Amino acid sequence: MSAEVNASNAAVFEAPAEASDRPVGVFDSGVGGLTVMREIMKLMPKERIIYFGDTARVPYGNKSGETVTRFSEQIMRFLLKEDVKAIVVACNTASAYALEALERDCPVPIIGVIVPGAAAAVRATRNGRIGVIATAGTIASGIYPREIGKLNPDSRVLGKACPLFVPLVEEGLWQDPVTREIARRYLEELMNEDIDTLILGCTHYPLIQGVIGEVAGAGVTLVNPAYETARQLEILLRERELLSPEAPGLGNEPQYRFYVSDMAEQFKSFANAIIPYGILTAKKIDIERY
Ligand code: DGL
Repeated sequence: MSAEVNASNAAVFEAPAEASDRPVGVFDSGVGGLTVMREIMKLMPKERIIYFGDTARVPYGNKSGETVTRFSEQIMRFLLKEDVKAIVVACNTASAYALEALERDCPVPIIGVIVPGAAAAVRATRNGRIGVIATAGTIASGIYPREIGKLNPDSRVLGKACPLFVPLVEEGLWQDPVTREIARRYLEELMNEDIDTLILGCTHYPLIQGVIGEVAGAGVTLVNPAYETARQLEILLRERELLSPEAPGLGNEPQYRFYVSDMAEQFKSFANAIIPYGILTAKKIDIERY
């Protein structure tokens, strides 16, 4: 175990004094954003993180842009009250619908997962044919073709909404034959279009990356925007001189804090399966107050 990464949440910090000592806020509609948090933890083990999962109102993927934006603004206000130094919108649907509105009001740096994912896909493709699988909301927003088009106008982007993947992930059916069969049906259309790169455009999907990879085949590069998002965050924090300078010391605050809007115990056991460092508590808050 690295001394810098607090495996049990038992090691704690001095009360932060400098801006760079403040935590990073990460949020998602539920557990999917933990796949982004885990990359941030690996890349920047000195950072403190506050995670919020909107477990009372998940899924966002079949809600209107207006509703997703309202939810996201409430979460941003909650995270700002927790004195975060930066925010990561670790949800594709919220990034697609709400990021622009959040950026207008956010006094700290804020990034989403879509621009990093688009950039990684443009780097990965050889034939310029990129598939995107995501929630119905993210696909309907057209954001991936737009962002990829800005980087490489010659690329062709094919999107496919995969609404059954989120409940399959939430049910823990990560390796199940049912998941494989559904993946086969969803991906068939994209495979017929000869894509060579596939963006996992929903933060839940990296948890079934094994099945998706098997179905897509070795000729297709899977792009997980989570890693690229963590890298972008590191660049941003460095530019703003906000990178946490020191390894954690002893004090009163846990390195990682988890908040949810419902089902804290269920979230905790799920999170422990995704994040390789024990999570002691997940606290339920009333997000409608924000
Ligand atoms: N995590 C969300 C996303 O990345 C998917 C789950 C949901 O529909 O809320 O789009």
